[in-house]
Amino acid sequence: MDLGNEVSASELLQAQAHIWNHAFNFINSMSLKCAIQLGIPDIINNHGQPMSLSKLVSALHVHPTKSHCVYRLMRILVHSGFFAKQKVDGSEQEEEYSLTLASRLLLKDEPLNAAPFFLVQVDPILTTTWNFLGAWLRNNDPTPFEMTHGMTFWDCVAHEPRFTNMFYNAMLSDSELIARVLIKECKWMFKGLKSLVDVGGGTGTMAIAISNEFPDIQCTVFDLPHVVANMQGTKNLDFIGGDMFEAIPPANAILLKWILHDWSDEECVKILKQCREAILSKNKEGKVIIIDMVLEIQEMDKESTETQLCFDLVMMVYLTGKERNEKEWKKLFLAAGFSHYKITPIMGLRSLIEVYP
Ligand SMILES: C[S@@+](CC[C@H](N)C(=O)[O-])C[C@H]1O[C@@H](n2cnc3c(N)ncnc32)[C@H](O)[C@@H]1O
Repeated sequence: MDLGNEVSASELLQAQAHIWNHAFNFINSMSLKCAIQLGIPDIINNHGQPMSLSKLVSALHVHPTKSHCVYRLMRILVHSGFFAKQKVDGSEQEEEYSLTLASRLLLKDEPLNAAPFFLVQVDPILTTTWNFLGAWLRNNDPTPFEMTHGMTFWDCVAHEPRFTNMFYNAMLSDSELIARVLIKECKWMFKGLKSLVDVGGGTGTMAIAISNEFPDIQCTVFDLPHVVANMQGTKNLDFIGGDMFEAIPPANAILLKWILHDWSDEECVKILKQCREAILSKNKEGKVIIIDMVLEIQEMDKESTETQLCFDLVMMVYLTGKERNEKEWKKLFLAAGFSHYKITPIMGLRSLIEVYP
């Protein structure tokens, strides 16, 4: 077989370019990592107006022999939508850079700063694991993460202080944004609730936001004991340490944000059964509120679908979990003894799922 005889030259070159593009995909991530590490979004922001290349170069303190490289780094970041570029009036060569919405989300003082989530994803602790995917498919190891590091993802989160900080900061940064959306767009979700437990609630970002917005709801953050050990509660917020596979504190509503996609079907059914117990022991009217992806629930553009599919592989490579479509979610809910559910796809790539006993 010789493809050169079967297809046109332009089709061959297009296929070759497609492969090159995939070979270099990581360069987009690494260029952005470099920009965040050098503080480029903050430098441009602090300048107060579009910043010329020469001013950016001098603010970055790059070695004089590397000055010309900054233009090349900025060129790819403009292409990927992280900065905008304008020509300076009267100058042929000089150009000025400003922020886009995406780079404004990377500013250090931005309350919704998304940099921590990005940085943990491109940390070598996670990126190395992908080299083992093929070998893992042929052996008996539970995850490529365990094959690489000799411990589970959660053990690594518990015992590697640098990774612990990065991971919980990443979760915090996502929860700041989602709490904002939830409180702005989904107030109806909390109507009539007297108590809510955020299971796997981490350092409490979601529950703090909910308890502040709804002073009549008694909120509890429930997570592993070492995660909540030194956390301080307030009048309507407390922190409880425990294992969600063993028992969950009783409440009208159980919140599971980014929990179930971490776990296999069998593990999810165990967690959901504990949620059902927790609701029924309080009040039969309660519900579980899940914030997670529901694949194929609505039409998505190509980039959003790709992001969802990447998340699914992330769950396979680091953990035992997966992203699920409606049919797969329904199976879990019925197996755990729930009677009905409602999916509202209003969280961007994720959905809100309310599940009733
Ligand atoms: C992906 S994080 C999500 C954190 C938070 N819900 C959010 O979205 O920002 C999963 C959380 O589950 C917690 N977790 C893991 N195993 C647990 C267990 N057996 N019992 C309770 N929490 C657990 C982790 O400590 C972590 O905070």
